[in-house]
Amino acid sequence: MRTDINLGVNCAGIKMKNPVTTASGTFGFGEEYAHYLDLSRLGALVVKGTTLHPREGNPPPRIVETPCGILNAIGLQNPGVDIVVDEILPRLQQFSIPVIVNISGDTPDDYGLVAKKLDQSYAAGIEVNVSCPNVKKGGLQFGSDPVAAAEVTRAVKGNTDLPVIVKLSPNVTDIVRVAQSVAEAGADGLAMINTLLGMKIDIHTMRPVLGNTLGGLSGPAVKPVAVRLVWQVYKETNLPIIGMGGVTSAEDALEFIMAGATAVAVGTANFINPRATVDIIEGIEQFLVKNGYSDVNQLIGKAHQ
Ligand SMILES: Cc1cc2nc3c(=O)[nH]c(=O)nc-3n(C[C@H](O)[C@H](O)[C@H](O)COP(=O)(O)O)c2cc1C
Repeated sequence: MRTDINLGVNCAGIKMKNPVTTASGTFGFGEEYAHYLDLSRLGALVVKGTTLHPREGNPPPRIVETPCGILNAIGLQNPGVDIVVDEILPRLQQFSIPVIVNISGDTPDDYGLVAKKLDQSYAAGIEVNVSCPNVKKGGLQFGSDPVAAAEVTRAVKGNTDLPVIVKLSPNVTDIVRVAQSVAEAGADGLAMINTLLGMKIDIHTMRPVLGNTLGGLSGPAVKPVAVRLVWQVYKETNLPIIGMGGVTSAEDALEFIMAGATAVAVGTANFINPRATVDIIEGIEQFLVKNGYSDVNQLIGKAHQ
């Protein structure tokens, strides 16, 4: 790592030593990947979606491959916020990186209660998932309605002093309206995008493949959509954005940064290459050196100039 190159960014008040983080639900609580890479190299760690009470998730099959990504319907399986606060976050402290906890709920009050428990924990920030397509209550229902998304944002902001990053859904007609609405409600940052609603049918059984019927599409297939949405939201809001959706290489990450993302999250790519995040960090640094830049911040929103 070169000392004359700055990879550090400040995303919604969270100081990251480089702009690369993990996409919630694709990296567990981080510890699962500690055999493959030095977690302390990450800019931040975004952990699995966490709810007030433990959840078992949806019936299997919960993941199916497509030619250009995967469909998942995990349904927010997680041990519940108490275990996360009391056991998991203290263990993650050893890696000395900001840990952002992704949260979900069935009601705005639920979100508020989870936020309150995290407020006194080792978490560096909260990512609010108003966009999960794989759960019956809450999830997408909040994220597709600007008023409901704002209500959830206010419930979280009212219960924590931690930076609050709201994760938006691509499954809407006008994402800019949702972004503006959560910005007015006090969001400190945006994360985008969550998965695109999709499904797969097994032509031999003539039935949907996923136990939940519908799932969320992620991976390279969604990248052009995600870049477009980051571009549009960057133009119309002042909030920092964590960009994601199909980031597999440093080139992909740079595309998001030039579209306006302050940081990028790596999701599905972790399943193919568990070291994808560190490869991407190194690739971004090489790009800066090769193109005569000394600071990654110089590239944020560059494609708009
Ligand atoms: C298996 C799986 C589980 C996920 N779980 C969550 C979750 O708990 N909370 C959330 O906000 N997003 C979740 N996501 C969405 C990802 O964080 C990310 O937004 C999406 O996959 C797009 O990025 P990618 O194409 O790099 O995977 C999940 C995605 C996958 C593939």
